Amino acid sequence: MSRLVVKSGGAAGFEEWRACFAEVAPGLDVRFWDEMGDPGEVDFALVWDPEPGRLAAMPGLRCIFGAGAGVDLIVRDPDFPRHVPLVRMIPAGAAQRMGEYICWAALHVLRQGRRMALAQARGAWDYFDCASAGETRVGVMGLGVMGSRAAVMLQGLGFAVHGWSRSAKCLPGVRDYVGEGALDDFLAASDLLVCLLPDTPDTRAILARPLFEKLPRGAMLINAGRGAQQNLDDVLAALEEGLLGGAVLDVFEPEPLAEGHPAWAAERLTITPHVASLPPRRERAEWVAACIAGIEAGWWPEKIYNPDLGY
Ligand code: NDP
Ligand code: OXD
Repeated sequence: MSRLVVKSGGAAGFEEWRACFAEVAPGLDVRFWDEMGDPGEVDFALVWDPEPGRLAAMPGLRCIFGAGAGVDLIVRDPDFPRHVPLVRMIPAGAAQRMGEYICWAALHVLRQGRRMALAQARGAWDYFDCASAGETRVGVMGLGVMGSRAAVMLQGLGFAVHGWSRSAKCLPGVRDYVGEGALDDFLAASDLLVCLLPDTPDTRAILARPLFEKLPRGAMLINAGRGAQQNLDDVLAALEEGLLGGAVLDVFEPEPLAEGHPAWAAERLTITPHVASLPPRRERAEWVAACIAGIEAGWWPEKIYNPDLGY
């Protein structure tokens, strides 16, 4: 019987994982990370943020599953076993959920939802007009699984959408800007910037003042990539000065965002708690079980982390 160890959501989260796997893969020996038994007998690991060195101490590990699509908290381990395939968590509904979040955030920031919520809390009739999707150009940083779905869904709302990635794409109606050399032109054309990049040395702290200065003044920002990609002090200052007109941030470094942090009170900033695409455990367990069944039958899932690219 294959053994799967789980580190995602603590002991309480594990009970939910166990119940899900009992339904979708009753033949799997599913164990909590801190009670895994002999590490030499572990075949598969499902992890979000394993302690450094723990994965390397499992000599029989056949595959690691990230509990999320982004695997930065796994690969930051200096002893991360690069020879073991690491599969990113992309069950069928994940990109759709992300697209829905980005569409919500885009309309929210465009229609100044934060301003309306604050006015409602004061009991104030704050009457104002705002731009429409049809006159707003959205630039999506990262046209991967998440970004490409978000781009298509944003187009459906009437936004003009273009994207930025490392390699060329061919999404109908979405102009692609490729590589570092195209970044400035991409930014100059972005009234609303959406970040769906993975966390790598190249993308870390990319959302900072020098980049904001290349956007049209008053541009809006959505970051659902990773918190390490934004300089939060720069975001707050840019909002204060009007360099940015509004922002929605789903990700922070560290998480959760500290109690009392000035970002909580920023007038033009909406904060969500890393929920942009959060497929239920049952959906993720089904997907992991299907991948394990596939691996045992001799085929490998797609969306495997590439250590050379860093994502
Ligand atoms: P993918 O690997 O499918 O896509 C990553 C995209 O980023 C690709 O288009 C890639 O280009 C591009 N990219 C990477 N590095 C660079 C660079 N230096 N310059 C330009 N483009 C770059 O990842 P996903 O779409 O599945 O996920 C992206 C990220 O979104 C995750 O890593 C995670 O951090 C975040 N995420 C957040 C969630 C949330 O709930 N907030 C949920 C899920 C994901 P190319 O196509 O050329 O390789
Ligand atoms: C992530 C996720 O990578 O939640 O952030 O999938």
